[in-house]
Amino acid sequence: MVFDRGSGRIPSTGFKGFVRRTGLVLANLIGVTTMSIGGAQPPQPPQPATGAPAPSAPAKPNAPERNAPSPTENIPNRAERESRRDRRSEMSRPRGRGPLDGLRPEGLPMIGVLEDKDRIFTNLYGFHDWTLEGAKNRGAWNATKDMLDLGRDWIITNIKNSGLRGRGGAGFSTGLKWSFMPKEVKDRPHYLVVNADESEPGTCKDREIMRHDPHLLIEGCLIASFAMQAHACYIYLRGEYVLERQRMEAAVRQAYEAKLIGKNNIHGWDFDVYIHHGAGAYICGEETALLESLEGKKGQPRLKPPFPAGAGLYGCPTTVNNVESIAVVGTILRRGAEWFAGFGRPNNTGTKIMSISGHVNRPCNVEEAMSIPLRQLLEDHCGGVRGGWDNLKAIIPGGSSVPLITREMSETALMDFDSLREMRSGLGTAAVIVMDQSTDLVRAIARISYFYKHESCGQCTPCREGTGWMWRVLDRMAIGEADPSEIDLLLEVSTQIEGHTICALGDAAAWPVQGLIRHFRHEIEERISSYRSRRANFAGHAIAAE
Ligand SMILES: Cc1cc2nc3c(=O)[nH]c(=O)nc-3n(C[C@H](O)[C@H](O)[C@H](O)COP(=O)(O)O)c2cc1C
Ligand code: SF4
Repeated sequence: MVFDRGSGRIPSTGFKGFVRRTGLVLANLIGVTTMSIGGAQPPQPPQPATGAPAPSAPAKPNAPERNAPSPTENIPNRAERESRRDRRSEMSRPRGRGPLDGLRPEGLPMIGVLEDKDRIFTNLYGFHDWTLEGAKNRGAWNATKDMLDLGRDWIITNIKNSGLRGRGGAGFSTGLKWSFMPKEVKDRPHYLVVNADESEPGTCKDREIMRHDPHLLIEGCLIASFAMQAHACYIYLRGEYVLERQRMEAAVRQAYEAKLIGKNNIHGWDFDVYIHHGAGAYICGEETALLESLEGKKGQPRLKPPFPAGAGLYGCPTTVNNVESIAVVGTILRRGAEWFAGFGRPNNTGTKIMSISGHVNRPCNVEEAMSIPLRQLLEDHCGGVRGGWDNLKAIIPGGSSVPLITREMSETALMDFDSLREMRSGLGTAAVIVMDQSTDLVRAIARISYFYKHESCGQCTPCREGTGWMWRVLDRMAIGEADPSEIDLLLEVSTQIEGHTICALGDAAAWPVQGLIRHFRHEIEERISSYRSRRANFAGHAIAAE
């Protein structure tokens, strides 16, 4: 294998044969190739192809022991966290190591579980250059050709092994989904469609990727499309995302000009990216409604089967993936499936951008390790709940469509699929909506119900009629103008909607209502009781809150 004496690197052409002969993992090899020719220096962190330093990545990225991790290995206990917090706050700034060091305001130390060196989205806050040059300096487009040269099976196997689960809400295994695409391209072309509709209330992570790290997404599109033998990818953006569209279009232009994509590009896989701007309907985030909209039709979900992998866009094999699911692919393959799988608990691996809003002192987006305790997430990154932890009333942990959990549950909840499912809620998009004691929960859930009523596409009777019915009842309940027996009726109707519709919007409308009744039934009862006590003409106005 030949070194380029100018840069001290192994040129891209040398990778393929070397990997085959040695059986080395590509991620490890990238570390090797950045060693200086002199050989006297210790191994250096993986470096991007441009020669500029990568953001403080380790020589053996994280190197989690393959079989070692215990379920909570990455989750420090409270004493460790406090000691880490003390250590960090003692450090002077700027430290000049992590990509975010010195760029955060004084007094806002990032603690959490994930260290800066392990962040995939090193420009999440837009402090750095988003253009191709900046992205390359941070490691994007590094060794992309070598990944493609290792073949489709290698890519899909590694994405499966990383444990990556879809970041769009449902949490389906990304590698497994890719493997559902036909093995051979026959009479119909294959497509990748990226879901950038991001309309779930509380969720605002994909927009940051598109604004500040668009090249990670475009690189991921190329790799995923190659793995599924698609020569074209459509990125479907939410109607309101105008800046994001402009940014994505500019980044796509840069990628074409640099011959990273397009015909006869340097990666050897002809590939086109099209940006499609939606018109701003929540339902167009549902993957089959999205495909309908992309085809120029009314955005209404399709009945499944057939699933998109069999008949998707224009009736051709298609995979729909969320922005974040695709944008992490390049880094996972560069650093190794084991590295990604080393974060979080088994079945809940990797890093994840979490969007925290509501009654915290500092709402934010932050990339964290999966399975971080919810309380730690709020305390370390958001300055805690407004007025202190005891002032917390409830949390919606995964975007408006998942049931809320109480303060007691939030105490032990982990931000992962399994922990929140066990609490009869969900990780969803990891959009954490925090509500303190000042929140009128009945009113809040009534407002969410109005959203689902408004966004229902109207195809299925339970959803079309049920969402409006639930909203009207909740709207009355919010002022107490209801009969106590309507609480059970409301619960019953919600279960008639759940699971009886074409798409999951019906479930999304039912679950918040069920969460409210499950945990805060007493609030509705008290509301009704108080309403009646103010009206003397109600017979038996003092209603027991049993
Ligand atoms: C009503 C509704 C809205 C949805 N909105 C989005 C969305 O805005 N973005 C998204 O990625 N997925 C959304 N989804 C999920 C998609 O249908 C699909 O599961 C997802 O894009 C698959 O990508 P992933 O496997 O990478 O998560 C929505 C689903 C439903 C039912
Ligand atoms: S569940 Fe609602 S949004 Fe989904 S297809 Fe049926 S009517 Fe349309």
